[in-house]
Amino acid sequence: MRDEIIKLLKKSGNISDETISEIRDVDIHDFANLVKDIGKQETDYIKASEISKDLNTKYIGKNLYIYNEVSSTNTVAKFLSENNAENGSIVISEKQTDARGRSGKSWESPLGGVWLSIILQPDVDHSHIPLITLATGVAVAKTLEKIGVENPEIKWPNDIIIRNKKVCGILTEAVAKFNTIENVIIGVGIDANLDIEEFPEELQDGTTTLEKELGRKGDANLLIRIFLEEFEKISELFNHEGYEEILKEWRKRSYTIGKIVEIRKPYNKYYDGYVVGISKEGALVVEKIDGSLEKVISGECIIKN
Ligand code: BTN
Repeated sequence: MRDEIIKLLKKSGNISDETISEIRDVDIHDFANLVKDIGKQETDYIKASEISKDLNTKYIGKNLYIYNEVSSTNTVAKFLSENNAENGSIVISEKQTDARGRSGKSWESPLGGVWLSIILQPDVDHSHIPLITLATGVAVAKTLEKIGVENPEIKWPNDIIIRNKKVCGILTEAVAKFNTIENVIIGVGIDANLDIEEFPEELQDGTTTLEKELGRKGDANLLIRIFLEEFEKISELFNHEGYEEILKEWRKRSYTIGKIVEIRKPYNKYYDGYVVGISKEGALVVEKIDGSLEKVISGECIIKN
């Protein structure tokens, strides 16, 4: 992990080779503090002062760690979470070189997108943690509504869709110690100020960007601030067991309920079905061809109509 982080620091551009050789052996907590210090910067595109100005939250985004380039904000957030990062800290990077998507896929992260990870220490029974991913989707959808996007929808579990194309993906990873979930890292990637032509050809068909949908470039710092506020509201609901309210907000924006889908599980297990709804645990409820109902907790869901 230390080498990985040293690589990130090198790429971040504001640390010399001499400093790197000096810090290779420092105590891991000092090392983590250094990573935090380097993150206390403004980049050309992401500015802590802009995000914090008027930020109306109690703990989400009170610590912002901002980098020019990292392999993955989830990796940095995981490292910081293991080294005393505060609940609600946010890691943001202008670019990512090795970002992760769901189902082991990679995630394109050029300059212009919003790539961030939230470090969360949820205060609830761990069985409810899948719902935090759904809740994050609701927070992103509400943020997009606030900046003028009409009818953003959520494709199960948490892709954000505008006019049938994906604009945002969310990857939640748990950090466990002695079999207990200590922190949850929620990675959010929003294709904000990006030209769709910059994406690999195979992604262009199914992807859109906020710039394309709104017909203009938007203010990334404002987008982040609104999202942090929406996220805190919904995570407070989550902490106070407002699961039904979260599900209600999710269902209102669902892109998946009422559609024919193909469910892809590991080991090439595929089947078709009709999406009846989502359960209180956040599972997709699918009616299979033979009429039986199946709850899908994980796997891929491809819309067929
Ligand atoms: C998906 O496959 O839809 C999830 C994509 C998640 C991408 C975000 S970008 C910020 C964070 N860092 C990562 O490496 N992945 C997530």
